[in-house]
Amino acid sequence: MSVLSKYDRISPIYDLMEAPVELFLFRKWRRAVLSDLHGSVLEVGTGTGKNLEYYPKDCKVTAIDISPKMLEHAKKRMAGMDNISLQVMDAELLAFADNSFDYVITTFVLCSIPNPVAALREMRRVCKPDGLVINLEHMRSSNRMLTFLENVLNPISVFFMGVNLNRKTVENIKKAGLSVVEEKHLALRDVFRLIRSKP
Ligand SMILES: C[S@@+](CC[C@H](N)C(=O)[O-])C[C@H]1O[C@@H](n2cnc3c(N)ncnc32)[C@H](O)[C@@H]1O
Repeated sequence: MSVLSKYDRISPIYDLMEAPVELFLFRKWRRAVLSDLHGSVLEVGTGTGKNLEYYPKDCKVTAIDISPKMLEHAKKRMAGMDNISLQVMDAELLAFADNSFDYVITTFVLCSIPNPVAALREMRRVCKPDGLVINLEHMRSSNRMLTFLENVLNPISVFFMGVNLNRKTVENIKKAGLSVVEEKHLALRDVFRLIRSKP
């Protein structure tokens, strides 16, 4: 089953499944990362649109996702947000001109895109030369015990949700030609990280 089909299928229960982590962790990270942005923003893999409320009103946000059903939920969240537009699109083949956006954002997306390096190359291409790519993601830990757990749980997570727990996301960002300017470890040692990089 494709990633698209998996997310279409879990879209009705996605917010419920994530509710506890959203409440205790994700919500505060989203606010901290997004609430002082300005200019044009591309959000890749917006899902049910949990980030949308945190963008300042003067940001012009284009949010894309491969799953039309996830975007149906995002649309409900968008009421009164005239600065935001949604489009069904594959992150690996972005339909935008080079150097279009001040910021390109992903939150918990690089784990599920089938070819993350291809998608990151596209993010680099559409980001302005003086812009910033911001990735808030979970990834393979450098801690052996955590990596062991990630590897054990990975097949189950991929089967049900298309989510890879053990990707080397910082390496993927670098492979795509982005220059990391900041890497913050947020939780579970270095599983959850915030990475800012330049095209
Ligand atoms: C774990 S969800 C995260 C959703 C949202 N960013 C959040 O923070 O709650 C991953 C999202 O990435 C989307 N996705 C996966 N592969 C994609 C691709 N190739 N292009 C665009 N979106 C993709 C999925 O449809 C899903 O909505």
